[in-house]
Amino acid sequence: MSAAGPARDAEGRVALISGASRGIGLEVARALQAAGWQLSLGLRQQVLPPGLASDAHLAPHDAERGDEAAWVAAAVAHFGRIDAVVCSAGVMIPGGIVDLPDADLQRMWEVNVRAPRRLVAAAWPELCATGARARAAVDRQGAVGGRVLILGSLSGLRVKSAGSAGYAMTKHAVVALGHGLRQAGHAKGIRTTVVCPGFVDTDMARAITDFPPEQMTRAADVARLARIALELPDTAALATLPISCQLEDIY
Ligand SMILES: NC(=O)c1ccc[n+]([C@@H]2O[C@H](COP(=O)([O-])OP(=O)(O)OC[C@H]3O[C@@H](n4cnc5c(N)ncnc54)[C@H](OP(=O)(O)O)[C@@H]3O)[C@@H](O)[C@H]2O)c1
Repeated sequence: MSAAGPARDAEGRVALISGASRGIGLEVARALQAAGWQLSLGLRQQVLPPGLASDAHLAPHDAERGDEAAWVAAAVAHFGRIDAVVCSAGVMIPGGIVDLPDADLQRMWEVNVRAPRRLVAAAWPELCATGARARAAVDRQGAVGGRVLILGSLSGLRVKSAGSAGYAMTKHAVVALGHGLRQAGHAKGIRTTVVCPGFVDTDMARAITDFPPEQMTRAADVARLARIALELPDTAALATLPISCQLEDIY
């Protein structure tokens, strides 16, 4: 490490992050900003989240309003490029799979699945441009092109209870979305990772389980892994990234 501190390899790269007001999204924002990324945050409240430098770009975003294209346009007008899209906004509404009101499933579907797809679709031309620039600038092996990182869940890989099955339906769909984006982006220099944690110590997990918070994965550790996935070259892509604080039967 130099006297100036850790290397800021990502200097100038631009990431859009949803769900950065708190929880995992906020930790990813902090980790990326510390590494030299420029941020555009889509937020329901236009308030700079705690611990972030004021040069972050803020844009209105409510996943239930379908305003992703306007956010992307504002970010491109501000920065002139998009290198990564991080989808962390999400909701978990517990309820037995037989009795779960359809409106609850619809809300989870909108926020967890449809909004990330719309956001990535709106940013796709910019991500393709980033992929093309990266390949023109450096050798193919070291190129770091466009990146998509979506918060899935271990609930996207297995179903542990009837009470979380509605949420698990949406997170299985997120994993499928990630695989589809990997297929669509491969030749264009875009790599997609679906991060799949178990319990992470945030408002969401504390609201739904008695599992001790101090034994949960820390959001900052998820963010460290997310940063690695975003910064590895195209030739070292991570498709899914399961992370657990408990013993799991399957991954
Ligand atoms: N915590 C866990 O144990 C865990 C485990 C596996 C996966 N995940 C996933 O990780 C992601 C982040 O979860 P978290 O634990 O950080 O949750 P969290 O602490 O509850 O934060 C949720 C974030 O999503 C945003 N959000 C919710 N509804 C929104 C909407 N309609 N439009 C825009 N933003 C909205 C919230 O914004 P406001 O502040 O405006 O409400 C907040 O920034 C989610 O996709 C979640 O499913 C979490």
